[in-house]
Amino acid sequence: MKDVIIACDFPNAEETLAFLDKFKEEKPFLKIGMELYYGAGNEIVKEIKRRGHKIFLDLKLHDIPNTVRKAMKVLSALDVDMVNVHAAGTVDMMRAAKEGLTRADGTRPLLIAVTQLTSTSEETMQKELLINAGIGETIIKYARNAAEAGLDGVVCSPLEAGIVKEACGKDFLTVTPGVRFAGGSVDDQKRVTTPGRARELGSDYIVMGRPITAAEDPVEAFRRAVREFVG
Ligand code: C5P
Repeated sequence: MKDVIIACDFPNAEETLAFLDKFKEEKPFLKIGMELYYGAGNEIVKEIKRRGHKIFLDLKLHDIPNTVRKAMKVLSALDVDMVNVHAAGTVDMMRAAKEGLTRADGTRPLLIAVTQLTSTSEETMQKELLINAGIGETIIKYARNAAEAGLDGVVCSPLEAGIVKEACGKDFLTVTPGVRFAGGSVDDQKRVTTPGRARELGSDYIVMGRPITAAEDPVEAFRRAVREFVG
């Protein structure tokens, strides 16, 4: 099922809740990242869940498998709906993450992987990280590793959604940031795609922050994103 996820990149609980108070009818799927989580902790997660929203907790775990397994167990108990890890942590680490997330009744949040961060250029990846493959090849290999570990999908650009699905199967989820309305500001994003184009390219979830959070009418901006992406 396609959905629009709003990136709640706010520094504290007050601003986040003031933003959410604008939504009287819809309960958008929300992404909580490191800034808000480290600042406002489990309390904000619980409050947002109490209000009936789904949550993608974007903490990008990357550590030894045992530590990630135990950390995921804690996040799973928070009742979030989607979490993520760095695929660079290896297939073993991703398997451990999935084990830790799985609750006694067999349910668990969706688990997705970050392949290469979009802030990492091919040149940096090769010169600093000594990865001698091309960046596209690396992204596909990391996505395949995530699929092998039993993960549900990856975060990627909508422009990569097609090749990821070709490599990992059509049910392998693509969660895609870098989405902007036609004619809107691109902010610091480099390669942007409209919600409608992301839909055509096969994204399962688009992640949109500032085009909604900084809009004059965030509710209308969210509705527009849903109209264009979900239909
Ligand atoms: O405001 P904007 O729509 O650019 O927000 C996009 C969100 O997606 C931010 O929370 C950003 O950190 C996140 N993100 C991204 N590109 C990635 C991975 C995550 O923009 N490759």
